[in-house]
This record gives sequence, C-alpha cells and structure tokens, in this order.
Amino acid sequence: MDFKVADLSLADFGRKEIRLAEHEMPGLMAVRREYAESQPLRGAKIMGSLHMTIQTAVLIETLVALGAEVRWVSCNIFSTQDHAAAAVVVGPEGTVENPQGVPVFAWKGETLEEYWWCTEQALNWPGGDGPNMILDDGGDATLLVHKGAEYEKAGAVPSATDSDPEEWHVIIDLLKRTVGPDKTWTKIAEQIKGVTEETTTGVHRLYEMFKAGSLLFPAINVNDSVTKSKFDNKYGCRHSVIDGLNRATDVLIGGKVAVVCGYGDVGKGCADALRGQGARVIVTEIDPICALQAAMDGFQVTTLEEVVSYADIFVTTTGNFNIITADHMARMKHNAIVSNIGHFDNEIDMAGLARVPGIEKSEVKPQVHTWAFPDGHQIIVLAEGRLMNLGCATGHPSFVMSNSFTNQVIAQIELFTKTDEYPIGVYVLPKHLDEKVARLHLDALGVKLTELTKEQAEYIGVAVEGPYKSDHYRY
Ligand code: NAI
Repeated sequence: MDFKVADLSLADFGRKEIRLAEHEMPGLMAVRREYAESQPLRGAKIMGSLHMTIQTAVLIETLVALGAEVRWVSCNIFSTQDHAAAAVVVGPEGTVENPQGVPVFAWKGETLEEYWWCTEQALNWPGGDGPNMILDDGGDATLLVHKGAEYEKAGAVPSATDSDPEEWHVIIDLLKRTVGPDKTWTKIAEQIKGVTEETTTGVHRLYEMFKAGSLLFPAINVNDSVTKSKFDNKYGCRHSVIDGLNRATDVLIGGKVAVVCGYGDVGKGCADALRGQGARVIVTEIDPICALQAAMDGFQVTTLEEVVSYADIFVTTTGNFNIITADHMARMKHNAIVSNIGHFDNEIDMAGLARVPGIEKSEVKPQVHTWAFPDGHQIIVLAEGRLMNLGCATGHPSFVMSNSFTNQVIAQIELFTKTDEYPIGVYVLPKHLDEKVARLHLDALGVKLTELTKEQAEYIGVAVEGPYKSDHYRY
C-alpha cells in the first residue's frame, strides 16, 4: 500500500480514540448497520480531501464498510491528527508492520508543496487510474481536477504572476508538471460521477463553476443540509473556537473584548461561546439581516475600525478575504490575539503582515506566533491565519461531526448509486434524508420525539412520517 503519514507507531493511540469516537458518532454507526449487507458503495473509488482527524477516520472506515475503496488527504496543512492518520493506514485488522487500512497522504504541518503533492497522490490510483467519486472540504481536490482538465483542453498551463498568492504558484508548478498530451486530468474528470462538498467555501466555488458553465460533474452540497450547517458550523464552532483559543494561549476569556467578524452560522456559534466565557462580544457584519440578528441577540454591532485599537481577541468567520488587514493589526493593542475560523488564510492578510517593514515574527510554539511591530507592540496570530480550531486544537467533537458525516455518506450513496438522476449541477439532499440524519442522533441524547396524530398531520398538511417543513423553511 502506498501512503505517507508522520509516524505509523501512533496507530494504537489513534485506534483507541477512534473506538471512543465511534460511540459518539451514532449516525455513522447506524448507517454502517443499515447498509452492511447491501454494500451500496461497492465499486466506488472515493478520493477524500477533508481534515484527517479522528472523526474523519470514523467517516473513512464507514465508507469502506459500505464497500468503497478510499484514498485520503487533509484539506488543510495543519489539521491532520497524526495518530488518526496512522490508525487509518494500519486499519482495524492490520499491524504497523503490515498495514491493511486506507492509503492516507497527510501529516500535521505540511508545506504548501507537500499539501498539493498529497492531493495529487490521492487522486492517482495505483495502475494509473483515478477516483470515480470525490468527497471534498473547501473544494481543493475539485479545483485541481478542473484546472488540470481546463489546461489540457487549452493545451497549455498559464504562468502565475507576481500578484498571485504563493499557493497559486505551487498549484501552477504542479500542473505544469502533470498537464500533458496523455490528458491525465481529463481522464480523471471523465471518470468522476460526482463530488460531495462539506463546507460553505467549497460550495460557493461549485455554484460559481456551475454558473460559469465549467462544472464537469454533479455535486451535492452537503453544507446546506440543515443537519450540517446549522449544527457543525454553529455548535461545532461554539465548542472548538474556545478549544483553539485555550490550547493556543490559555488566556482568560472572561472580561475581555472579543470581536467576531461575520454573523453567519460559524459567527453565531463563536459569538455565543465567547459570551458564554464572559467576554464582551462585538460583531461586525455587512449583511443587514445578520447584523440585526446579532443586535437582537444582544451583541454590539459595529465596524472593525471602531474597535480595533482596544479589543483583546479577534476571530474572523466570514469566508471572505482581507477582513483583518496589516493596517488593522498595526493598530491593535499589545498581545491582541488574531485568529481565523473561516476556510482560507486570506481572511487575515498574512501576506500583507509579512510585508510590514521591520516586522518580526517569532514562534512561541507551533501554530502560535507573535508578530512584533517596529513601534514595540506585538500581536499573537494563531495557526498562521488558517483555521484556528483545527490548527491549534482538534476541530469539532465527534457528535456534531457525526451529523455532518452522515450527510456525507448518504450524499455519496445518492450520487454513486443514482448517477442518472443527477445531471451536472449542484444539489442539496432531500429533506427526508436531512430529517433522517437528525433522527439517528436523538436516542443518544435521550430525546423523546412527539408523534403527530393523523388528524394533526392533515391539519398542518404534512405526512405523519415527514418531511415536516417546506424546502424554504429556515430553522
Ligand atoms: P455564512 O455565509 O453563513 O457566514 C459568513 C458571514 O460573514 C455572512 O453573514 C456574511 O454576511 C459575513 N461577511 C462577509 N463579508 C464580511 C465582511 N467583510 N465583514 C463582516 N462580515 C462579513 O458562512 P458560514 O457557514 O458561517 O461559514 C463561514 C466560513 O467558515 C466559511 O469559510 C466556511 O467554509 C468556514 N467553516 C469553518 C468551519 C471550521 O470548523 N473552522 C466549520 C464550518 C464552516
């Protein structure tokens, strides 16, 4: 088996944590039981690009239990848990000497070159074949396949320019090496039946490609299942934003002024958690609806400019770029903590920060850096501006990820087994499946659901067994 992880000897520790996680992931375990016999993913060759954590290990082994062949990478250079990666490679039946699990190409602290190399490896099955399904988080695997196929069609790879981000240079170098007359990327794209996308940012990219007419295969938007974005993005971040801050800095949050940029699902979870710790939370927003929500939830809503000089903690949650600029950071108070929990590292202008004349970066510990300005004040930047909850802590806990990943597995089964029903486009899972995912998690929390009577169901115009809401209901 080909694979590349940090240290296979961590597999035993990883396996113990996977066993604990399985108990906290009732949705995934129920899906394993439901499909044990029918094996709906037999024949599926799934390339996954999603944070290689313990929870993801349970997802991967669920896909395998349903018959799939899988190859995996992390979708972030800092988010791999090395013991999880090792355990997945070794597999439940294998040993360190004789690994029998799944090829994983991921370790914590990859360089950008290594990151994209890993993605390339996972997209190439031994024997020169590619995957027939992608499971993506943030859209990097989908992007690579699309760009490769696009440049093969054009017959050339354009050069990156000085104004392009560093990462684009790395991607272009990879494509210059791999785009060629044998049309590897085009062949990979042709074989892919579809992609299931985990997060807001990746979904955004998919809709853009579909609008531009460049999307090459159908996609299921897992993010907008209610049991994903209204749970993982919100309650997951409510847990892991504090975990990231604590593990990185251990600063007392109570009494501090914390700024949350963006009040979407992630922002709502972060603001709630910081308030729960006793911080005075201030929200910034561009959308009047979200701004009004924040105000009515009791938060001060103002601009970053107003608060940048006195806030203690900053968390960006927008999925947008240049939210916190180098100029903002120059005006922050000494030891202000600057962090991002949105998908990419350009929410905080890290490139601009590095260009400030006389600035000095110093590592406190991995994923925690001080940046000292020439005037003597410094700020603390978490995870180099990348996802702080995955870079500085261990991301979301198992129970909430069980909701997200049960959607992922159901979406993979949908696209793989009903390919003809999904012409190229971007889809969300039907509501009865969304409700099913929630249902699978109720018992574990001791929830007793009230059942509609037949008369009540008729009165409100739904079936007794659901779905209970119209598609446009917002929860
Ligand atoms: P969302 O679209 O619900 O929320 C983003 C909010 O930011 C919107 O309300 C938007 O109006 C606001 N916004 C945009 N530009 C802004 C600006 N210049 N200033 C202030 N506010 C601005 O998206 P969601 O689901 O909350 O996701 C946000 C990001 O977090 C995405 O990149 C997503 O991929 C990522 N994400 C990260 C997770 C993690 O574990 N770290 C988990 C789930 C999502």
